[in-house]
Amino acid sequence: MMKNITKITCIGAGYVGGPTMSVIAQKNPAIQVKVVDLNTARISAWNDEDLSKLPIYEPGLAQVVQEARGRNLHFSTDVAGAIAEADMIFISVNTPTKTYGKGRGQAADLKFIELCARQIAEVATSDKIVVEKSTLPVRTAEALKSILDNTGNGVNFHILSNPEFLAEGTAIADLHAPDRVLIGGEHPEAIAALAQIYEAWVPKERILTTNVWSSELSKLVANAFLAQRVSSINAISELCEVTGANVEEVAHAIGKDSRIGPKFLKVSVGFGGSCFQKDILNLVYIARSYHLDAVANYWEQVILLNDHQKMRFAEHIIKTMYNTVNGKQITVLGWAFKKDTNDTRESAAIYVADHLLAEEAQLVVYDPKVSAEQVYRDLDSLGSRTPADNRRLVRVENDPYIATANAYAVAILTEWDEFRSYDWERIKKQMKKPSFIFDGRKLLDKIALVNLGFHYYAIGE
Ligand code: UDX
Ligand code: UDX
Ligand code: ADP
Repeated sequence: MMKNITKITCIGAGYVGGPTMSVIAQKNPAIQVKVVDLNTARISAWNDEDLSKLPIYEPGLAQVVQEARGRNLHFSTDVAGAIAEADMIFISVNTPTKTYGKGRGQAADLKFIELCARQIAEVATSDKIVVEKSTLPVRTAEALKSILDNTGNGVNFHILSNPEFLAEGTAIADLHAPDRVLIGGEHPEAIAALAQIYEAWVPKERILTTNVWSSELSKLVANAFLAQRVSSINAISELCEVTGANVEEVAHAIGKDSRIGPKFLKVSVGFGGSCFQKDILNLVYIARSYHLDAVANYWEQVILLNDHQKMRFAEHIIKTMYNTVNGKQITVLGWAFKKDTNDTRESAAIYVADHLLAEEAQLVVYDPKVSAEQVYRDLDSLGSRTPADNRRLVRVENDPYIATANAYAVAILTEWDEFRSYDWERIKKQMKKPSFIFDGRKLLDKIALVNLGFHYYAIGE
């Protein structure tokens, strides 16, 4: 019989581990939850008295942390100590796409996972349930098990796959009311122990159990299907632009078909985020490694179309501005990959900006939640030009009215609600004439803007 879980440790205090453990602690006051990370700055931020300084921005997160922190939710850098005392260990470290060696640009880099496994094996002196919480390619649990069983101190490890389906910007709402919780595993008691934690607030019929491989694959497939919907509507947006159809009307009409459904049909300048591209690349890599070229090519198209969407948006800006943006100020509104988050990983804004910078445009960036350092870090990491050139060509402002002064054009790249309520008349007055708006999110009110004298272009129209 497995003993009751009283102590949980989560390795990795990022976008997944932080919010997920906060909610598990909130809903299970009798369980002590410790979130550990090697990054000391990140842990201090999680422990900051001032809740506005939490390392990630998510609506509702601060209240959950306030309720549970110090009671049964703790953030620490003592990884070994937290492993030793836990009954259950979640692994929630990052699994970026490999940037070197075999599978470079496609396969997931499992070095962080392996380091975790080795550390668990070294430290553990009692039986543990180990839960994969990061997005992992299929068959990672097998690797995990092999490391744990062969390097450990002879204790038992039960490995479960428990993929997280939360979306950033709505993480707390998603965690509070998940469509489903998925637990993959072989050991019934370990599965039951994890299910019990979720049963504190999730209805039983929403807790699905499968074998480990199905669970791991379901995570990749769910993200691939979602991304495919975005690429599908974005592909149609280009067709709409040349034929006079309106992509929003088309999306609405098809979404009424209950077999298609209305969600995830919002046209955009391209999807971003840490998951979609990475997970599809993984799916493609796995398919290719089994020589399933038709399958691999099919899913690869979702990414190729997404790249095309970002590029054609940037190209459209250049073409509309008389084929030259050299020295012209273009104000980028929105840098995060979607609204209500400060996360910029794989954001379309980075790639659109890079393309405009290649043409020597002068960019001014404003995002309500993203810092100047982050904007420069994102551009520098592309390696397209020197950091000095990025600083020469890009200015980051924290006031939208200062950001838009003297601009030739404004490009909307994230769908922040606040962009809608700006005083666009005031903005128009301080911009160069003719004043262009390129709306990559189809966010603003076209008629009002045209009446103010803007040249307004929205994607898909
Ligand atoms: C996604 C999945 O939704 C989530 O289940 C999984 O756990 C992690 O990956 P996330 O990347 O946080 O979540 O956000 P999501 O809302 O899925 O948006 C991803 C990207 O697609 C964003 O850039 C968003 O702007 C874009 N998108 C989404 C569209 O362009 N149109 C849409 O209709 C929906
Ligand atoms: C389709 C559309 O559903 C309908 O709205 C449109 O008006 C005409 O085209 P139909 O071709 O009659 O209707 O049948 P449908 O049920 O859509 O099936 C089409 C094909 O897809 C069939 O061969 C069916 O076996 C196959 N299919 C459908 C699957 O293989 N899997 C599925 O999940 C659904
Ligand atoms: P995700 O979006 O998957 O949560 P993040 O990058 O936001 O990814 O978070 C992952 C966290 O895991 C980072 O804060 C990183 O410092 C941490 N991490 C990676 N490897 C280890 C490790 N071996 N031990 C502890 N923490 C780790």
